[in-house]
Amino acid sequence: MPTSDVLPRRTFAVISHPDAGKSTLTEALALHAQVIAEAGAVHGKAGRRGTVSDWMDMERKRGISISSAALQFTYRDHVVNLVDTPGHADFSEDTYRVLSAVDAAVMLVDAGRGLEQQTLKLFQVCAYRGIPVITVINKWDRPGLTALELMDEIEREIGLKPTPLTWPVGESGKFHGVLDRRDGGFIEYTRTSGGATRAPERHLSATDAAAVAGEAWSTAAEEADLLGLDEADHDQAQFLAGRTTPVLFASALLNFGVAQLLDVLVDIAPPPGPTPDVDGGARDPGDDFSAFVFKVQAGMDAAHRDRLAYARICSGVFERGMVVTHAATGRPFATKYAQAVFGRDRSSVETAHPGDIIGLVNATALRVGDTIHTGPAVHYPPIARFAPEHFATARAVDTGRYKQFRRGIEQLDQEGVVQVLRSDLRGDQAPVLAAVGPMQFEVVAARMESEFNAPIKLDRLPYSLAQQTVPESLDELAGLSGIETLERSDGTLLALFPDKWRLGSVQRLHPDLVLEPLPASAR
Ligand code: G4P
Repeated sequence: MPTSDVLPRRTFAVISHPDAGKSTLTEALALHAQVIAEAGAVHGKAGRRGTVSDWMDMERKRGISISSAALQFTYRDHVVNLVDTPGHADFSEDTYRVLSAVDAAVMLVDAGRGLEQQTLKLFQVCAYRGIPVITVINKWDRPGLTALELMDEIEREIGLKPTPLTWPVGESGKFHGVLDRRDGGFIEYTRTSGGATRAPERHLSATDAAAVAGEAWSTAAEEADLLGLDEADHDQAQFLAGRTTPVLFASALLNFGVAQLLDVLVDIAPPPGPTPDVDGGARDPGDDFSAFVFKVQAGMDAAHRDRLAYARICSGVFERGMVVTHAATGRPFATKYAQAVFGRDRSSVETAHPGDIIGLVNATALRVGDTIHTGPAVHYPPIARFAPEHFATARAVDTGRYKQFRRGIEQLDQEGVVQVLRSDLRGDQAPVLAAVGPMQFEVVAARMESEFNAPIKLDRLPYSLAQQTVPESLDELAGLSGIETLERSDGTLLALFPDKWRLGSVQRLHPDLVLEPLPASAR
């Protein structure tokens, strides 16, 4: 067994608003970990595509595991798993579900824009799940907000106390390096052409820094002192408890601050811990093998109907070919062929350990939230559905194909592709589909046509907010205009509102109604 298999793990995801620099940071992390020798010569979308295919070549040659699910690399005798959260183009429940598979999150903030909506939403899922969050202020090479303004915003908007580990030397737009608050020294960065290689770093003492960086250094040192007075020092217990967020300053494009992020992940991000089960027990990483499926992806291409189930390993060792039990059915499940189809990842998925992500191909029985295991039975809690914000009715274009329509909708509901809501009023012919992102509707429409041979017509509904309600409130809700109540397939009763203002007025005028926000995630 290669030694890397038993190295400690760090499994994390990057949460950010589109364009904050997630892809650039991913590339920079890989560069630092020396997965790739040189970042794409041209950063950005076009350049990255080239880089991704470079990775694939590299993966074939060196057995490095890179798939759309996770980028795995070794750094300082640790295996780091960076689990991919899909970008804005395919923002959907999957984006949220990925957070059930990680032990920490890196919140990437654009220094020029501050906290943005999608980051806030994803952060709420982290908070709900108790995932510790490390904040990276990116694009410090460009003029933007001041560091203190950004700290204020984080504390105000998300309620986490920022505890900067580094502090920028030079205002945004003039990025020389950072003051390392852990030892008071200066890490000076040097630009490289196009940010294509690792940025050389020089570590200087405070005295030398004053000579080199002059006023920029004294300003940084003064501000860092103020932070100390404001109790903004890192405290590991507070960080793990989700009360504080360590902060780093970076320019992913220039590869500044990226090594510090990797060090921080290794030094303070939590390793995989025990995974609680539905019976109130937990499996420790050292116990028999177990994993849960957090994402299922089915090929939209009719010629390739592969179904890839992504599972996070919670305990034990996964070995390709092992027979595991599918907890939902109690049936044995052989992983041999599943792995064989995983093409380029094959060599690296021979064995996997707690914290690692594996892709099981054509595991048709596996659904989102399912547990697989060896040894005594274990069931991990289901991943709760997320609060939908987009709603549409679905109808079969060809009413003669209603049977296929029903089967398809049921299957996609079970897979977690979309939420399906029903009411007596609307009947079974036109269920309401509810989604976190509109992209989910496109996936449903494409798969209904190509896989189930039942094209559908979608009509968007004028709602943007769902609240959980109870049977006792249904009659009163039925008398209110512009609001609709439906039952989700898991039995939850949902009241749909056009917007938060309508919800607010209903709550004011009918204080007896039970209307509660939907929990983000149960796991
Ligand atoms: P995303 O995955 O979060 O959507 O962001 P992405 O990495 O695609 O970055 C979005 C844009 O921000 C890109 O520019 C990228 O080059 C730029 N960027 C990322 N990190 C930094 C940084 O640290 N400093 C600066 N100055 N820019 C950064 P683009 O114009 O959309 O693409 P391109 O023209 O660079 O190809």
